[in-house]
Amino acid sequence: MFRIVSIPGDGIGPEVVAGALEVIDTLAAKHDLEISIEEHLFGGASYDVHGEMLTEDTLDACKKCDAVLLGAVGGHKWENLPHDKKPEAALLKLRKELELFANFRPAKVYDALVDASSLKADVVGGTDFMVIRELTGGIYFGEPRGYDDNRGWNTMVYEHYEVERIARLAFDAAMKRQKRLVSIDKANVLESSQFWRNIVHDVHKDYPEVQLQDMYVDNAAMQIVRDPKQFDVIVTKNLFGDILSDISGMITGSLGMLPSASIGSAHAMYEPIHGSAPDIAGQNKANPIATIASVAMMFEHSFCMKNVSDEIYAAIESALAQGFRTADIAKAGDTIVSTTEMTEAIVANLKAL
Ligand code: NAD
Ligand code: IPM
Ligand code: MN
Repeated sequence: MFRIVSIPGDGIGPEVVAGALEVIDTLAAKHDLEISIEEHLFGGASYDVHGEMLTEDTLDACKKCDAVLLGAVGGHKWENLPHDKKPEAALLKLRKELELFANFRPAKVYDALVDASSLKADVVGGTDFMVIRELTGGIYFGEPRGYDDNRGWNTMVYEHYEVERIARLAFDAAMKRQKRLVSIDKANVLESSQFWRNIVHDVHKDYPEVQLQDMYVDNAAMQIVRDPKQFDVIVTKNLFGDILSDISGMITGSLGMLPSASIGSAHAMYEPIHGSAPDIAGQNKANPIATIASVAMMFEHSFCMKNVSDEIYAAIESALAQGFRTADIAKAGDTIVSTTEMTEAIVANLKAL
């Protein structure tokens, strides 16, 4: 029995999570799997009902289940709340409470979508790299933090163990891929980055087969756009990973394509990298693929069912090859489908496989 906690969240969250749940139901029926799904409120949706973004009840459920599926949180309605009461602060708290220190964000370009990126097809075609973002440290969590009328401040700080564990995980991931790791930092300016770089090089001694390259974050942002195919595995700090993974999303055609897995030693959460997209929320326009692909990551990492995971990717690939396009990945002349139509196409392919 696999126990999933589903947290639709805000904006397009409920729309894309509904698609992902349909995929899970289809797979459960097809493979005779026992999967329980418990839905919980989180973020603005929870605040509106309970006056709290993250209730004890939701946190407790996330700690007890096998995997959490999250849509997205945030929106204009809650953006003027005090900083520590915002939906985004609750997401950071949830990641920290579950100790989800490693965030895997795979940027893979589907052949059918080489024309969907804002970059040239020959630049993006064949791109397949993994961004590993440190998720529970760095400037997102460092103290002191705050602002008053005259100053605003945050602290970029990493502990030795935090860098070492993410570095090991990144080298392990590289060993399973093409054995090329790029560590992205700003060691020419930031002491905390020099610290990061030194530890990554120490850990490298245990992985002599992996080719390690250091890259400054400003150059990395340029290199991802110039020649994304040069990358195999990227490991980087929390803030840099946030920014670089949105850039990577656009290589694949849309932010709506990029899934993610947030992993710790005891818990796991799966979520698209995009946000609640208030500009298209409630219109059945959002691309559900990032969330559906996050379910594929869940089957692989949490349930150790790589065959099911592969089926999901194959069903997505077929839907794209069959010409199904939500607005974000459509080009002029394409017929545009809704969130539910894209979901139905993927579900139909899963049943047919
Ligand atoms: P966003 O990712 O929500 O949207 C950026 C742009 O991408 C928008 O134009 C949006 O329409 C488009 N987009 C995003 N996902 C899409 C999808 N699945 N299909 C089609 N188009 C899609 O980023 P934002 O506008 O900067 O942030 C909106 C809110 O979401 C903010 O409150 C932000 O804090 C929050 N946010 C939450 C998460 C999360 O919960 N993990 C992640 C990022 C942003
Ligand atoms: C993401 C989001 C979050 C982050 C926000 C909403 C806290 O942008 O998951 O990429 O910055 O980590
Ligand atoms: Mn982000």
